[in-house]
Amino acid sequence: MKTAMPDAAFADRPTIDVPVGLGTRSYQVTIGAGVLAGAGARLAALTKKRRVAVVTDATVAELHLPRLVEALAAFEVTPIILPAGEATKSFAQLEALVNALLALEVTRSDVVIALGGGVIGDLTGFAAAIVKRGMGFVQVPTTLLAMVDSSVGGKTGINTPAGKNLVGAFHQPAAVWADLDLLQTLPMRARRAGYAEIVKYGLIADPAFYLWCEANAAALLAGDSAALAHAVAQSCRAKAAIVAADERETDDIRALLNLGHTFGHALEAETGFGGSLLHGEAVGIGMAQAFRFSAARGLCPADDARRLTAHLAGVGMMAWPRQAGIAAEAAPRLVAHMLQDKKMTADGLPFILARGIGDAFVAKGVPLAAVTAFLEADLDGTPEN
Ligand code: NAD
Ligand code: GLY
Repeated sequence: MKTAMPDAAFADRPTIDVPVGLGTRSYQVTIGAGVLAGAGARLAALTKKRRVAVVTDATVAELHLPRLVEALAAFEVTPIILPAGEATKSFAQLEALVNALLALEVTRSDVVIALGGGVIGDLTGFAAAIVKRGMGFVQVPTTLLAMVDSSVGGKTGINTPAGKNLVGAFHQPAAVWADLDLLQTLPMRARRAGYAEIVKYGLIADPAFYLWCEANAAALLAGDSAALAHAVAQSCRAKAAIVAADERETDDIRALLNLGHTFGHALEAETGFGGSLLHGEAVGIGMAQAFRFSAARGLCPADDARRLTAHLAGVGMMAWPRQAGIAAEAAPRLVAHMLQDKKMTADGLPFILARGIGDAFVAKGVPLAAVTAFLEADLDGTPEN
């Protein structure tokens, strides 16, 4: 693995390269400030074609499309600009995108570039998975959440009226180019949402990284470039290791990445999957709930749950459902939302719980009555208790 070395072939600024080892589907995550400057040479290494479609959303197009188009000067670039926001992960936008790619007469050896956050990455990856039964795609994540989570690992898909991410495919990108300079325009709220997925890696299996997060979260959120580079690289290394071990989430390994997600998805469903509660915000509250639930069941020291709750609060993040406007009587509805989770099997709903900070595990057979009782108490929780 190359760490903070000048990337002589493509740009003159240092990059951190994280390999994702998946046999013939292996690829590299290239992390650094200014990575996009080398996009032309990087793309030429992936395809012989001189035409490329770039899928992005209207917000990102205005902020960052010109620098990518400039870097791809040797290519004929066709931008496909979609509306910004979660609603874009829909059948309607998928159809429009697939038709746009087919109108460009793309072939399996073409590569489409996803320039955006998790919404654009998930949608474009899914379109790439099904057009001509699978064409190449490159992830160019522009949000912190996308850099540390959604752009790596090949989960792609859309939402349906029945729920989030219920239709999709595993389709690995050919490369991920994470240009830290793009984060300069990201609002603080979105930075905090991305930070939830960063601290998650420490909570799952890396207590030392959790300690680093506690010490460096404020600098990271303020945009400190060294802190961002370390956090993005460490997160991608952690995710790459998990994906390499359990690409299709069949061995109770990749499922650990869902820490906080079962509680969090229920909160998102309760608030209507809109802008009032971002995915990363829901994951932040959900992780605190997973630790409080683990403590309530005697699995995890109560101090660890308190410590996480305090850390999230200390960097301005929500840690309690009430802070997201969830009503005190919502417990049965939250459990009903959980039962729609795509992780649900004939054996029930697995929960990702913790024995402590850095020691998460998949818990099966958790009685739903215990979940309901916990939620009833937790919904009364406040930042002060
Ligand atoms: P997003 O893609 O909607 O981006 C959030 C907002 O930020 C958008 O309005 C976008 O236009 C704007 N934006 C993007 N980059 C910007 C920049 N550099 N400067 C200013 N504004 C910018 O949301 P997200 O948080 O990136 O991703 C959330 C999605 O990711 C959800 O749909 C979630 O399900 C999915 N997700 C997928 C995976 C996976 O493994 N595939 C993992 C986690 C989350
Ligand atoms: N974000 C969860 C996963 O990639 O598995």
